[in-house]
Amino acid sequence: MDDVKTMQEQQIELFTHQTNRKIVMDVQAVTKSLPLGRERIDILKGISFQIVSGEFVAIVGPSGSGKSTLLGIIAGLDNPTDGKVLIDDVDITRMGEGKLAMVRNNKIGMVFQAYNLIPTLTAQENVEVPLYVGKHKGSPSERAKELLTLVGLAHRLSHRPSQLSGGEQQRVAIARALATDPAIVIADEPTGNLDARNGENVLSLIADLRNRTGKTFIIATHDQNVASHADRAIRIVDGLIASIDNNGGRITQ
Ligand SMILES: Nc1ncnc2c1ncn2[C@@H]1O[C@H](COP(=O)(O)OP(=O)(O)O)[C@@H](O)[C@H]1O
Ligand SMILES: [Mg+2]
Repeated sequence: MDDVKTMQEQQIELFTHQTNRKIVMDVQAVTKSLPLGRERIDILKGISFQIVSGEFVAIVGPSGSGKSTLLGIIAGLDNPTDGKVLIDDVDITRMGEGKLAMVRNNKIGMVFQAYNLIPTLTAQENVEVPLYVGKHKGSPSERAKELLTLVGLAHRLSHRPSQLSGGEQQRVAIARALATDPAIVIADEPTGNLDARNGENVLSLIADLRNRTGKTFIIATHDQNVASHADRAIRIVDGLIASIDNNGGRITQ
């Protein structure tokens, strides 16, 4: 990589210097290609960006542009073909599976479009699940109740997913993502299965949680309107960053 800093890198450097915040994620020249018959398809063609602690960032782009592939790589679920992903200055792309599982459990919470709750468990039990993996302080049931209260579902602790609306299920999934107190929450199309009103509610919840917890939220969406709720929108087209929009000038709030 050359030494010339992009405008975005210069802005982030100034911002972290002025606010004493740090870069929690540094994505460096990430590529992903997969074999397709006798050819290879290039899904990601060299993606670089940095994310500051406490930022709410949207990865936005049309369907098939590579957002889910990128999210899988920055969440440590998939390896890039080339390039690095540093989380708190540690490269997660060269890590053994055991150590990586620990990073995922401690530093990253995941939210999916289809909520991915366990249907036979109650809301509270779903939120407790990550706390039974690895070592965590405190009582899982107390923590789960506290988080479900935080997302406005104190009255739904014993409901199973099928007894909850889509918006409520996504709130449970967000509470579950927060269970291990990760620094970063990564959400792939978190509003994709919701109607406009419930989608807005989930986005306000994310913005509110960011303000109250100081955690970093990274969402992927194909919807420009959804992306406009974030501090910054990184637009991906055909596996490359097409533009980065500071959504009215804030790098972060
Ligand atoms: N495992 C895979 N094998 C082959 N092609 C894939 C695989 N995963 C994703 N792709 C292709 O890569 C491109 C990007 O996919 P994806 O990351 O899911 O995009 P998005 O989330 O933006 O819709 C698509 O063209 C998709 O078909
Ligand atoms: Mg996708």
